[in-house]
Amino acid sequence: MNLRFTLLAPVSLALALFLQPTHAADSGELNKVCPITGRPAHPKVTASYEGKTYAFADAAARTKWQQARESSLYHKIGGRPAIDAAVESFYKKVLADNRIKHFFEDINMNVQRRKQKEFLSAALGGPIPWTGKDMRKAHANLPGLNDTHFNAVAENLQKTLEELKVKPELIKQVMAIAASTRGDVLNRPPAKK
Ligand code: HEM
Repeated sequence: MNLRFTLLAPVSLALALFLQPTHAADSGELNKVCPITGRPAHPKVTASYEGKTYAFADAAARTKWQQARESSLYHKIGGRPAIDAAVESFYKKVLADNRIKHFFEDINMNVQRRKQKEFLSAALGGPIPWTGKDMRKAHANLPGLNDTHFNAVAENLQKTLEELKVKPELIKQVMAIAASTRGDVLNRPPAKK
């Protein structure tokens, strides 16, 4: 075997692993379906956001998607780095909070943090849809879960966002989205229409 290859191969492998995107959506593969129209995406009509490239059916769909990204709460609070920082800090608070920490005793917190980052990102208008459990199913097996616990979680989220210096009007909007999950998280019967 060529000596240079032998010496360089482990370095290249390490480099490739290091450079590999950590986010599931960064596989580098273009989407086949346009996220706006649901029609086949054209591989040449693309836009990039947070290091990932998305394909669209046509230029109009691309513009609509870009406008949605830029006007999203997700974008306004600082995108992926802001969500990552918020969720890390949020769960530190949750795990130190005697009112609610017992709910997380047997939970794999690495998985929980990853899921919460994905959920929050999608809920705030981030580019990748949430494909996990709906909030009712996710919290169906937490005996005794009630408003006091929900309020404690909301309080920790609000404190986290304040500490990260998110603008008050944006915090208000995030908290309204969090509040909209209360009925499902607490497994209340859905409101009649
Ligand atoms: C703003 C309200 C809340 C949101 C948005 C939220 C979000 C989530 C999400 C995205 C998951 C993962 C779902 C999945 O596995 O696909 C989850 C799981 C979980 N949540 Fe919440 N949650 C909320 C309130 C609460 C409250 C009030 C508690 C308890 C104090 C709680 C405790 C848990 C626990 C223990 C799990 C893990 C369940 C399991 O893996 O079996 N959550 N939550």
